[in-house]
Amino acid sequence: MTNSNNYVLITGASSGIGRATVEFLASKEFYVYAGARKQEDIRELNKLGNVTALEIDVTKQDTIENAVKYIKNQKTGLNALINNAGIARAGPLMELPVKELYEQFDVNLFGIHRITRMVFPLLLESKGKIVMMSSDSGFFASPFFGPYCSSKFALEGYSDSLRRELIILGVKIVIIEPGRVNTSIWEKGEVLLNSLLARLKGSIFEKIAKEVGEYAIKKGKTESLDPIEIAKLIYKILNLKEPKTRYLTAPDK
Ligand SMILES: NC(=O)c1ccc[n+]([C@@H]2O[C@H](COP(=O)([O-])OP(=O)(O)OC[C@H]3O[C@@H](n4cnc5c(N)ncnc54)[C@H](OP(=O)(O)O)[C@@H]3O)[C@@H](O)[C@H]2O)c1
Repeated sequence: MTNSNNYVLITGASSGIGRATVEFLASKEFYVYAGARKQEDIRELNKLGNVTALEIDVTKQDTIENAVKYIKNQKTGLNALINNAGIARAGPLMELPVKELYEQFDVNLFGIHRITRMVFPLLLESKGKIVMMSSDSGFFASPFFGPYCSSKFALEGYSDSLRRELIILGVKIVIIEPGRVNTSIWEKGEVLLNSLLARLKGSIFEKIAKEVGEYAIKKGKTESLDPIEIAKLIYKILNLKEPKTRYLTAPDK
C-alpha cells in the first residue's frame, strides 16, 4: 500500500462506471478499496495493483460493517467515499408493485444511507469527500422510468441536506449527474424490459412502455459516453480543493 493521503472506497466496482473508476484511480496516485458483491468480481478486482476488493452489498448491513472494519484495521484512513452502486428499474407507475419501488430505493437511496453513515467517522477524520452518483434522471423525470428517476431525485435531496449538514465539518458532498453512459446497465435494462412486457400483456401502457423502453435502451447503447469519462471526472473532483456541488456530464448536454 502507498503512504499517500489518497485512499478511496467505491461501491459497485464490478462493472461499468465503478470498474472504470477503480482502474483509472489505481493507475494514478490512489489506493482503492473496491466494493463488489460477487466472489468472482472480488477475485478479478484483487488482480489489479493498488486495489483491495471488499464484499459490499449496500442492502446488507453486515457486509458494510465488515468492509468498514477492515478499512479501519488497515489504519490507512479514508479520503473519499464514492457512492456509485445503483440499479435501474422502469415501467409504468400505475402497474408498479410497491415491492419493486422499495427494491429500487433499497439500493439507490437506503443503500447509500447505510454505507455513508458507517464510513462517516473516517471521512470526518480526513475531512474527506463523498461523491454521489446521481443521474440526469435526478433532475429530469422521464415517463416510464418512475422508479429510477424518483430514487435519483431522492438522492439529490438527500445529498443537498447532507452537504449543508457537513459543510462546517469540512466534509464535502459532490453530486455527479451523468447522462447516458455505455455500461451493462442497458443490457440489464433489456432483460428487465422483456420481463416487464410479459407482465404488461393487455395493459393500457403495454405499447407505449415498449416503445419508450426500446428507444431508451437503443440510445443508451449507441449514443452514450464511455465510462472512462466519468472515471476521469471523479479523478478531477478528488483532486480539487473546492469542487463544485454538481457536475452534469452527458453526450448531448
Ligand atoms: N449507465 C448510465 O447511463 C448511467 C447514467 C447515469 C447514472 N448512472 C449511475 O451510475 C452508477 C453505476 O451504474 P453503471 O451504469 O456503471 O451500471 P452497471 O454496470 O450495471 O453497474 C452497477 C454496479 O452497481 C452494483 N450493484 C447493484 N446492486 C448493488 C447492491 N445491492 N450493492 C452493491 N452494489 C450493487 C453492480 O454490482 P453487480 O455486478 O453485483 O450487480 C455494479 O457493480 C449507478 O448508480 C447508475 O444509476 C448510470
